[in-house]
Amino acid sequence: MGFSKLRLYSWVTALLICLSTENLSCNAGITSSYIRPDFFSSDLPLDSPYFAVPPGDNAPQQVHITQGDSDGKAVTISWITPKAAGSSQVLYGTSPNAYTQSSNSTVSTYSYFTYTSGYIHHCLIKGLQPATTYYYKLGDDTYSREFSFVTPPGVGPNVPYTFGILGDLGQTSDTVTTLQHYLKSQGQAVLYLGDLSYADTYIFPLHDQRRWDAWGNLVENSTAYQSWIWSAGNHEVDTTIGEDEPFKPFLNRYWTPYASSASTSQLWYSVQRASAYIIVLSSYSDYSADSPQWIWLEKELAKVDRTTTPWLIVVMHCPLYNSNESHQGEGDAMRALFEQWFIQYKVDIVLAGHVHAYERTNRISSVGCSSACTPVPNDSAPIYLNIGDGGNREGLSTSYINPQPAYSAYREASFGHAILDIKNRTHAFWSWHRNQDGEPVIGDSLWITNRVIKS
Ligand SMILES: [Fe+2]
Repeated sequence: MGFSKLRLYSWVTALLICLSTENLSCNAGITSSYIRPDFFSSDLPLDSPYFAVPPGDNAPQQVHITQGDSDGKAVTISWITPKAAGSSQVLYGTSPNAYTQSSNSTVSTYSYFTYTSGYIHHCLIKGLQPATTYYYKLGDDTYSREFSFVTPPGVGPNVPYTFGILGDLGQTSDTVTTLQHYLKSQGQAVLYLGDLSYADTYIFPLHDQRRWDAWGNLVENSTAYQSWIWSAGNHEVDTTIGEDEPFKPFLNRYWTPYASSASTSQLWYSVQRASAYIIVLSSYSDYSADSPQWIWLEKELAKVDRTTTPWLIVVMHCPLYNSNESHQGEGDAMRALFEQWFIQYKVDIVLAGHVHAYERTNRISSVGCSSACTPVPNDSAPIYLNIGDGGNREGLSTSYINPQPAYSAYREASFGHAILDIKNRTHAFWSWHRNQDGEPVIGDSLWITNRVIKS
């Protein structure tokens, strides 16, 4: 894109930015006027510096952390040692190079055709202090690495917190740009919307598992330092003829604290973090009536106390509303089952990926429709936000249903990420940042008001 075109694009989109509150919503709906050409970015080669492993024959790599319990007093630290199990110990403490405590990891491997993973370590550390910087050390005397993270503040109704929102990243040069932009943001933890490595898109070798390792190293400069709250997408199913165990690489590599929310599966669970109650669902597991996921969700929604955690956020991979032609209607079955609950319990926002574009809806409902119908405004309904634009090898989804449906407030097929900045119990600021602009530039934004706590 030449400079003049870029400048014109920036000028036009700046005019279209919708800096509104929910009471002054963009009812007309905005489709960004920029028509991005169809293109595909190839995955970076396996010898790319972005996938570089740390020096040392068996040094810990692919380090990532996630919340380890229901309320943020625990963290799970995970890493892989490529050649031998090595040390299973995490040394940690609140001062750098002064590790007063230790905890041991579990170690496992998995095989996929002729591939055998490295030694996958998961270490659950409990009893952490809130809003505290912890330093941790992995490895042994020969090859050790040190990192740090900040625990979330204690759970409470008026606790501000900033979430980064990323989805469908893959491992292309666009992925790198998205990650580099996100690293410049104020995000304190990531809500990840599914589709991680896209290893399953490889034919030679089939479902190339080395791409899981590459991805783990690519994202490490964020995942080692802040919790990523994981959800699984279709590319995590990862089955093919001869490998029929669903989600095998994902479940081996990415733990979730499902047991602490009485879930029976790593794929659906909840966490409380600051003033948010986050429910993660699995779009590619059984969610039919009376299925384990359905039963769990029905109980889970009833447990949420909005006076403690005012912000109720649902995370999934496949969007329930989407005016892109890509994956159109794929969320209808889940919507038919769960939308009425989301309205009954006044879910604030629903986050999804899968469609490789950005879209924000108004608060709308299709409850009561026996088949396709026009959604109607509903003040108790969530805003549906689609952020499947992390930058993977499948490219952007550029074809939209026209005219833009009334439920769609803003849509644009550009790579990027989003930030949910919870200010207090009543207000949060949503912003979406396209990769073509600098990180501080906002492509779309909205002040979101809590559905339950009004003052
Ligand atoms: Fe997907």
